[in-house]
Amino acid sequence: MEAALLDKLIRSPKAELHMHIEGSLEPELIFQLAQKHGVTLPYPTIDALRAAYAFTDLQSFLDVYYAGAGVLLDADDFKAMTAAYLARAHADNVIHTELFFDPQTHLERGVSMATMLEGMEAAMVDAERDHGISSRLILCFLRHLSEESALETLAQALPLLDTYRHRLVGVGLDSSERGNPPSKFERVFAAAREAGLRAVAHAGEEGPADYIWQALQLLQVERIDHGVRAVEDAALVQHLADTRVALTVCPLSNLKLCVFDDLEKHTLKTLLDAGVAVTVNSDDPAYFGGYVNANYIAIAEALQLNEAELHRIVANAFDAAFIDDDARRTMRAAVDRHWLQ
Ligand code: HPA
Ligand code: ZN
Repeated sequence: MEAALLDKLIRSPKAELHMHIEGSLEPELIFQLAQKHGVTLPYPTIDALRAAYAFTDLQSFLDVYYAGAGVLLDADDFKAMTAAYLARAHADNVIHTELFFDPQTHLERGVSMATMLEGMEAAMVDAERDHGISSRLILCFLRHLSEESALETLAQALPLLDTYRHRLVGVGLDSSERGNPPSKFERVFAAAREAGLRAVAHAGEEGPADYIWQALQLLQVERIDHGVRAVEDAALVQHLADTRVALTVCPLSNLKLCVFDDLEKHTLKTLLDAGVAVTVNSDDPAYFGGYVNANYIAIAEALQLNEAELHRIVANAFDAAFIDDDARRTMRAAVDRHWLQ
């Protein structure tokens, strides 16, 4: 990529809409927290943990990711993890971010919903003050677990909405996609929307385009996380373009989890050319080899994206963010000023 464009891309204000906070845990912090709590990890050293990052598919990653998250026990742990991500995101010029968290993986280890929220909230308040970064939380249900477990998890969160309504703005759906269709979670998403929460879902990462239709029609989501397999259904691509439902695409994740064997084969540009509101995000940056700027650079180089296309993709994320119209106008204006200067 031309140096001036690369520099402009790096310095651009950005919004990140697809990042699992547990996926930002760097090995050093995992080992530090394991030592603090006397937790024994299935990997004896940092090098052994890093050696396990040779993933072949989504499940091979999730096994390591849930093991890493096992060191999170008290509010300070959640605060330290969130603070580290927000500082790192700020360095990539992220000015707004919406973070996924996976409460079920912590509830089953005896960590309360209140503990998680208290820790993440503290870091988010500090980061707004210190870096001017705005942030929200999206509670994800683990789709390999039952509908009943998801309903119980939502029930744990609802009483805390009085305190955290400004922060906890939506629900999502993640974990093992194949064999766990959105239809399994129709009732829990209806209950979440009834409580005033926004809805998103992972779909069309490893699963078929039909799961994207299900997420839209049965879960009534406003964004699709990944969605890269939408290209297999022309009517779906047209529908996504017509409705401007954004796709939160994660290029380095797709490469690491072998969704594409080469970034040059990535479907982002096909979708962009068809008028779909694609965005670029880091997914689980500690595991996939790069934070959001690295994802932008990798996909821009692989697909030879030009300045107008990069401006469009950055702007799409602000258009799709769960923020009020005043904040959106201010942030969009900053983006447009940056790209049109
Ligand atoms: N897909 C599904 N579940 C996940 C992911 C992902 O990319 N990252 C963390 N949990
Ligand atoms: Zn994800």
